[in-house]
Amino acid sequence: MTARIIDGKAIAGNLKAELATKVEVRVNEGKARPGLAVILVGNDAASSIYVNKKVEACKAIGFNSEKIELPATTSEQELLATIDKLNDDPTIHGVLLQLPIPEHIDSNKMLEHIAPHKDVDGFHAFNLGRLVQRNPLLRSCTPKGIVTLLESLEGVDVRGMDACIIGASNIVGRPMALELLIKGCTVTVCHRFTKDLQAHVSRADLVIAAVGKPGIVNGDWIKPGAIVIDVGINRLEDGSIVGDIEFDKAKENASWITPVPGGVGPMTVATLMENTLIAAELDENTDRN
Ligand code: GUN
Repeated sequence: MTARIIDGKAIAGNLKAELATKVEVRVNEGKARPGLAVILVGNDAASSIYVNKKVEACKAIGFNSEKIELPATTSEQELLATIDKLNDDPTIHGVLLQLPIPEHIDSNKMLEHIAPHKDVDGFHAFNLGRLVQRNPLLRSCTPKGIVTLLESLEGVDVRGMDACIIGASNIVGRPMALELLIKGCTVTVCHRFTKDLQAHVSRADLVIAAVGKPGIVNGDWIKPGAIVIDVGINRLEDGSIVGDIEFDKAKENASWITPVPGGVGPMTVATLMENTLIAAELDENTDRN
């Protein structure tokens, strides 16, 4: 079997086009243009690229955006004050703190400081708690984007599938497990202490890798017909970008597979845009203003 490619770039493009239309309708109705603020602390090269992609997507869709670049020496107090200002700004509906941030700053403390209704990353305890309760409000972008990709697959229903997530991060693995539980999967989360990764991967109908280590999942382990989602974005010494899963071999076993690049990455950005629109709508449906 040779897998069909899940064209994340195209699916993300369709989602962004839908959002652009919705924004125009809103603006014509006299409602606010959704506004996203992205905070970048320090000089991480990859983070800088990701932040620029987010700001460009805002422009393309017709959202307002604000990029706030702070030096690596920024104190917790200064970052908290920046977040306070954005929380209070009625033109800003979404506030995103790009991770990682310098180690002298407590990232959890910062994420908890973002107003839950502006937490378009879905990382605040309130939003994660709502996901645990199967009543999500703002959902983390990468896992939510993956659910959108899975829902787009012709003739696929993941209910009842054995899913294997590799990587237990707060950003992807953990919220992904909660999303897949809601979808009716039986979920295994593998991590650095997992004894036999191959055993878990090879019995899964759905494999999602989010580790950041090229080739951590051997393509031969993939069960025939499994769906393979690769969240990893790794730059090799020759400059090429690869995922966490050996693509060429996995493609021979899988029924569907995401490429890297062009799979999950564009969906994460498009889902952030979707969340920013949801946050703007939330704002209108409360009496906060
Ligand atoms: N760093 C890597 N992925 C993400 C993400 O989805 N959101 C934020 N804020 N930082 C990240």
